[in-house]
Amino acid sequence: MNAHSKTAFTFSRRPTDRPVAADVRADLLKDPGFGKVFTDHMVTIRWTKDRGWHNAEVSARAPIPLDPAAAVLHYGQEIFEGLKAYNLGDGSIALFRPEQNARRFQASAARMSMPDLPEAVFLQAVDELVKIDSAWIPKGDGSLYLRPFMFATEAFLGVRPSHEYLFILIASSVGSYFKGGEKPVTVWLSDRYTRAAEGGTGAVKCGGNYAASLLAQAEAMENGCDQVVFLDAAEHRWVEELGGMNVFLVMNDGSLVTPPLSGTILPGITRDAIITLARKEGRTVREERYAMDQWRADAASGRLKEAFACGTAAVVAPIGKIKSSKGDIVIADGSTGPVTTAIKAKLVGIQRGDIADEFDWVRRIG
Ligand SMILES: Cc1ncc(COP(=O)(O)O)c(C=O)c1O
Repeated sequence: MNAHSKTAFTFSRRPTDRPVAADVRADLLKDPGFGKVFTDHMVTIRWTKDRGWHNAEVSARAPIPLDPAAAVLHYGQEIFEGLKAYNLGDGSIALFRPEQNARRFQASAARMSMPDLPEAVFLQAVDELVKIDSAWIPKGDGSLYLRPFMFATEAFLGVRPSHEYLFILIASSVGSYFKGGEKPVTVWLSDRYTRAAEGGTGAVKCGGNYAASLLAQAEAMENGCDQVVFLDAAEHRWVEELGGMNVFLVMNDGSLVTPPLSGTILPGITRDAIITLARKEGRTVREERYAMDQWRADAASGRLKEAFACGTAAVVAPIGKIKSSKGDIVIADGSTGPVTTAIKAKLVGIQRGDIADEFDWVRRIG
């Protein structure tokens, strides 16, 4: 089956006989936070070297039995994705560019020597789970965060790609990603740790990238920051991205600057959408290397007007301040700027079906 085959395979459906009661669910959805409230079901699909993908199933979300010798527990062969399902005003449910997540999942799998999950199967899994757990999509600003992931299950301690994998899709009802809601975030400049080096795995979504970033994230939190901004591994000079988001700068001539997809940063789907929207509006967007010293100088001179981070989880998050061991950088007056606000409004408007979807990004379910 190639990546574009229309019909995937049959998913067997075994709905839970113990769903969370409607009143308990309503309570959980009032203020779900991020990544704490999970739905009733999950999708699982197995892969073995002999049979390929098989046993696609929708069933009750439950712990998974795993052999203690499973390769993922030793060598970290694991990849994941993140996308959201939204309730639209007209009662339908929509996803934002899910085929991009399916393709990035394939790219991650290829880099981590894992099997290719056909795009149609990835999308079918998402459809199945969103439909069966649609009652878990919060009303209003919230959404259903979908977490597809795949890991090596073979019980074998030799160091080579596993011969068995499990794909799982779970879902979490979410509100705002940052505790502060819409307030500008403060980021910590990590001068000690880097996230990715050339030839490494920075451009794909494997769990190991995040494991390696946690110490820097902990340092950020100890310093009262929400996220880390990483510099390149070779020169410790060029701005790369945040721990879980891409970054944009807004200059005083209205142009945007964002680090290029050099192979060490994640090619964000939100990043791509923002570049497309900004260029459509006639704004200049430069995908070019931007040095941290330049950031400091541009903030001081007033050439830099705004900065924001972007990603599926938070969509667009203004950056008000950078803290570092060499002192703080406040961007303009530290508040959310008008370009950031406008870009966020446009993107969220398209995602929610309130603004015309001229790029055909929104895919309705059911
Ligand atoms: C390291 C990193 N960079 C950037 C992003 C933003 O990517 P996207 O816009 O596809 O969510 C994410 C989130 O997935 C991420 O984890």
